[in-house]
Amino acid sequence: MPTTEPDRVRIFDTTLRDGEQSPGISLNAAEKLEIAQQLARLGVDIIEAGFPISSPGDFEAVRGIAREVHGPVICALARAQAPDIERAWEAIRDSERPRIHTFISTSDIHIKHQLQSTREDVKGQARAAVAHARSLCEDVEFSPMDATRADVEYTAEVLQIALDEGATTINIPDTVGYTMPTEYAAFLTRLYELTPGLRDVTLSVHCHDDLGLAVANSFAGVQAGARQVECAINGIGERAGNAALEEIVMLLQVRGEAIGLHTNAVTTEIARTSRLVSRLTGYPVQPNKAIIGRNAFAHESGIHQDGVLKERTTYEIMDARTVGLATNQLVLGKHSGRHALKQALEELGYSIDGQALKTAFERFKDIADKKKQVTAMDLEALVTDELREE
Ligand code: KIV
Ligand code: ZN
Repeated sequence: MPTTEPDRVRIFDTTLRDGEQSPGISLNAAEKLEIAQQLARLGVDIIEAGFPISSPGDFEAVRGIAREVHGPVICALARAQAPDIERAWEAIRDSERPRIHTFISTSDIHIKHQLQSTREDVKGQARAAVAHARSLCEDVEFSPMDATRADVEYTAEVLQIALDEGATTINIPDTVGYTMPTEYAAFLTRLYELTPGLRDVTLSVHCHDDLGLAVANSFAGVQAGARQVECAINGIGERAGNAALEEIVMLLQVRGEAIGLHTNAVTTEIARTSRLVSRLTGYPVQPNKAIIGRNAFAHESGIHQDGVLKERTTYEIMDARTVGLATNQLVLGKHSGRHALKQALEELGYSIDGQALKTAFERFKDIADKKKQVTAMDLEALVTDELREE
């Protein structure tokens, strides 16, 4: 837990790093800069701008962001190797608030098959990497990759080494989206018990969505003491993606008070940021996506529409305007009721009641049975002259 503002959860945005690792996404430097500027308007605390050693283009993009984006910490990713760390530092050194994020796996699966190394060697590499990063930059984050499938005692030993060498943030990745909320919280609690210095730095969570649990696991992590959440706009990222930033932020906005936590995000910038990321990555947002899907504030059934028209909070836990949308929506379809039809007609300038409304409603249901959505043009057509005169 950080010593300042212990009730604030830091939002670490990784749209431009883990998010960009989504199959088929490749952003150029100008696009990455445009997204980073918008993330700064959204009020994220940290922008992970990229992985500078991965390509000359990514190096340039991270350097541009470090030079031009003000406010958030600008972070660059580096494996636990000196060339990666030096390249990352080169890219971010001009930032007002640079951070190096270095990582190495602690699970035996990764140590044996991916790194083809040993637990002892990994400890040595972690020590050297954090020490080297700290010799360049004051703000250093360390991640034991695939931690949730690793031995907790061994992971704690590696974390202690990272802390001894001066790591300022410790991030616990659920790299393959394998853990579950109670298990993840217990894992973090055990790490706190085994690693005394962990309470003096910021503990961070980084959860993938392979089982659809990224946000739930992140929230469990926060309840266990984490005060940084790594997440991406629209939930993009490796495979099934990362925890969706908009869901984390609104979860803490709507329910955070109950547990005394908040973020500094400017929620009214959420919709705009989501649209920008969707447009530049070419990844559409599913209609029923929480917070920013086009149906997230739309009501179709008569019962719900009637309730919302009487009092918005009957079927809404958030006001659409808090996420930067103009308004909620009553979508006219076969489940809609007379109340919603009357309102839609009034918005088009037709005020009808009694028998005229009854006839219009019968015609409307006829059309709605044949079409997925009834448009303004359909409504105009069903209010014929004799109904307008009634
Ligand atoms: O998922 C992961 O483990 C990562 C690390 C680089 C933090 O993205
Ligand atoms: Zn990741």
